Amino acid sequence: MADSSSVVLYYLSQPRSLRHFYFIPTTLALATSLLILFYISSTSNLFAHHHHHAHSIPQLLLNISSSYTPFRVEAHLKADGAQVIEGQRSPEQPQLGSNGNYVNNKAVFHDRHIFLEDYKEMKRSFKIYVYPHRQDDSFANALLPVDSEPGGNYASESYFKKVLMKSHFITNDPTKADLFFLPFSIARLRHDPRIGVGGIQDFIRDYIFNVSHKYEYWNRTGGADHFYVACHSIGRSAMEKANEVKFNAIQVVCSSSYFLPGYIPHKDACLPQIWPRNEKPPDLRSSNRTKLAFFAGGINSPVREKLLQVWRNDSEIFAHFGRLTTPYADELLGSRFCLHVKGFEVNTARIADSLYYGCVPVIIANYYDLPFADVINWSSFSVIVATLDIPLLKKILKEISSDEYLRLQSNVLKVRKHFQWHLSPIDYDAFYMVMYELWLRRGFSTVPLSNFETS
Ligand SMILES: *[C@@H]1O[C@H](CO)[C@@H](O)[C@H](O)[C@H]1NC(C)=O
Ligand SMILES: *[C@@H]1O[C@H](CO)[C@@H](O)[C@H](O)[C@H]1NC(C)=O
Ligand SMILES: *[C@@H]1O[C@H](CO)[C@@H](O)[C@H](O)[C@H]1NC(C)=O
Ligand SMILES: *[C@@H]1O[C@H](CO)[C@@H](O)[C@H](O)[C@H]1NC(C)=O
Ligand SMILES: *[C@@H]1O[C@H](CO)[C@@H](O)[C@H](O)[C@H]1NC(C)=O
Ligand SMILES: *[C@@H]1O[C@H](CO)[C@@H](O)[C@H](O)[C@H]1NC(C)=O
Repeated sequence: MADSSSVVLYYLSQPRSLRHFYFIPTTLALATSLLILFYISSTSNLFAHHHHHAHSIPQLLLNISSSYTPFRVEAHLKADGAQVIEGQRSPEQPQLGSNGNYVNNKAVFHDRHIFLEDYKEMKRSFKIYVYPHRQDDSFANALLPVDSEPGGNYASESYFKKVLMKSHFITNDPTKADLFFLPFSIARLRHDPRIGVGGIQDFIRDYIFNVSHKYEYWNRTGGADHFYVACHSIGRSAMEKANEVKFNAIQVVCSSSYFLPGYIPHKDACLPQIWPRNEKPPDLRSSNRTKLAFFAGGINSPVREKLLQVWRNDSEIFAHFGRLTTPYADELLGSRFCLHVKGFEVNTARIADSLYYGCVPVIIANYYDLPFADVINWSSFSVIVATLDIPLLKKILKEISSDEYLRLQSNVLKVRKHFQWHLSPIDYDAFYMVMYELWLRRGFSTVPLSNFETS
């Protein structure tokens, strides 16, 4: 039987011959280095005078990733001409700029056409098998979807599962499944007195042991066509005793920092952290954005300390630490930019909060694999600022012209539907977008078993 690392290699290189295996880690390492370089050069004003310097780098990435077929995300690096996803395909084609790269300043999607075609196919054909558990299972609380409506800071995890289980994506026939869902809830296990933070690693190890002995599907790929979903960052350490989950399975998590071990970009996917809201988004035209920027939160990281140190007495950048005395929504409606600043983790619900209230998010969280970043262009509706540049924050924000601001804000209104949960999902909402990310990572369950037996 193949060990897990050779399964991973097999899985990445399935159409190729054996000697090509060794290129895969090298290519991945090279691509990762380039991504980091690209990230630094495109986010730090200390390294680049304007964004334009970074534009030649995605081209390099395209060339490298075109030899890397398993995930289709590379196609989304191309720019495309459209502004909205509903309605007809845009008649404009991407245009080549003088620097040889595609240009379209209004694009929210990297490639809207590919996205729309893929999305349609995803909705039509994608099938998920969920390991079944009975209502009287002693861990039904962690394995079955919650009855109540999910709420709170980590609601994304429960929302996803609840909506998935009722969706047309579910199949009871594992032979028809593209992917297998491991339905354990990290948030519920964490609060279960029988498990708790201390017992969660053993629970996951035992769960995988049970599933891999009772069913044949895990062993076929070492878990590569399996996924789990977690929003609390405890999920990261929860996989410590289940290496195959960490290295092979698709981890859909809110804490998608590619700086920390345990999250593997491209294989894993970011789950957006969203505070659920049922009301219709507020009427933004009536809002009155008199403040330049706003932040509220505790000081639980060096990044926030830095923000406090530099901006705490500023008359334009309002950084509140500790309890707010004004309603949070009013602050988000009254500011032009809303700061998302890394705390314990790269992720918080603040990005989705800002989008909901029509505030342009400013992301100060290095190494955050942002939600849906392979599909939507974050630079078209947010401002990404490297931690090093906190002292330059006011300068960076003030250099954004009012036309540019209006463009960012109108794109905020276009993307915010991707950052909302609905118990009955609505096209392009957070649920379907996460399904789409999973769909991009499918396609390995068809590997003939004999391929593995020979390795
Ligand atoms: C990448 O590919 C494009 C198109 O095939 C080509 O024009 C360009 O020179 C390549 N860039 C590098 C760095 O290889
Ligand atoms: C993303 O949007 C920015 C700002 O509109 C634009 O400059 C950049 O070219 C876009 N990138 C891609 C890959 O479409
Ligand atoms: C694994 O299976 C055993 C035997 O059926 C059961 O007692 C145990 O609760 C299961 N553990 C998990 C984590 O599923
Ligand atoms: C899966 O592999 C494990 C470890 O090699 C083995 O013990 C188990 O029986 C296999 N499961 C099935 C269903 O064959
Ligand atoms: C915006 O706020 C300012 C100051 O609070 C107030 O004077 C002005 O009337 C408000 N404008 C609108 C359109 O609400
Ligand atoms: C902000 O104000 C406090 C108290 O008024 C003062 O101690 C502190 O030095 C000021 N900080 C900055 C960065 O100006």
